[in-house]
Amino acid sequence: NEEEDQRSLQKYREIFSTLPTEKGWETEHLFLYQGFWHILPLGMGVMAAQNHFKASSSDLFLASSPKTGSTWLQGLIFAVVTRDLHPFAQHPLLTVNPSDLVPSLEIKLYSSNQIPDLDVLPAPRLFATHMPYTSLPESIIECRCRIVYICRNPRDTFISMWHFFNKIRSNMLKMPQLPLEEGFDMFCKGATPFGPFLDHVLAYWKESLEKPQTILFLKYEEFQARPSDQLKKLAEFLGYPFSLEEEKEGVVEEIQKLCSFDNLSNLEVNKTGRTPNGFGYSALFRKGNVGDWENYFTAAMVEKLDQITTQKFHGSGLAF
Ligand code: A3P
Repeated sequence: NEEEDQRSLQKYREIFSTLPTEKGWETEHLFLYQGFWHILPLGMGVMAAQNHFKASSSDLFLASSPKTGSTWLQGLIFAVVTRDLHPFAQHPLLTVNPSDLVPSLEIKLYSSNQIPDLDVLPAPRLFATHMPYTSLPESIIECRCRIVYICRNPRDTFISMWHFFNKIRSNMLKMPQLPLEEGFDMFCKGATPFGPFLDHVLAYWKESLEKPQTILFLKYEEFQARPSDQLKKLAEFLGYPFSLEEEKEGVVEEIQKLCSFDNLSNLEVNKTGRTPNGFGYSALFRKGNVGDWENYFTAAMVEKLDQITTQKFHGSGLAF
């Protein structure tokens, strides 16, 4: 009931007020909770989801660190799973941002001031999350829910993040730009929302090796290079493989086209649409390229981030 919900939320707020803090990327500070950095509203969402979310084995999840291609994968997963329900000409993705079709537990569902009732949603429920593996609500692990993890090379992830927060700073908060060097130091220190980024990636990578049936580890760069192969792999993992007939009819290509950067970023909803708190969906679409880091990184930055990455991933079999 509502009173109980409010008491829980007050408790989470109190817990957060005791946690170590670090300067954030905009006005919100970062709080260290279970080894990862969170801004208050989303960290509260993580706690609320941990305490209230009840997974069902048919739930499907997209997990990711911010700025690694989450919006793209939200669109692809929705399009794959619901393809029998929606003709491409009148598809929900033409008028709704992907983040509203595959909602994030901590951003959309549990971060407002109430605990949602998700039992009413039809199966399979599709959810997204930026939560680190070790902070996922226990029932997700117990139910062996399938989790798709999308990751991206650290250099492009940082550049995407830096642009994203600068957009929020200038458009929503009227703050000056965050200097590139300052953002880079914070990224290298691991002080990013849901960071350290490399720890986030590594934990899902290790789990994906141990439990390939439950975690599919995908790379943004591979998806860009071989979209149909990756899309088929994704559909099969989710339990919605493409039939030969569908492949012949070009369904794989249709989904790719529907969710392409050019298509999604030019839709009215994604150009001018906003969430109730004023966040413009256009901030989720910038360039959608691999290798944009080359336009920003100095040799010293390449060396520093490479060294941290190599050290962190040493012996894991993961490389970019
Ligand atoms: P860039 O800033 O490098 O352009 P997230 O969705 O996790 O926030 O990730 C955002 C990044 O994904 C941004 O990268 C954005 O442009 C890119 N992106 C968004 N939609 C995409 C799509 N349909 N295809 C490929 N990349 C996409």
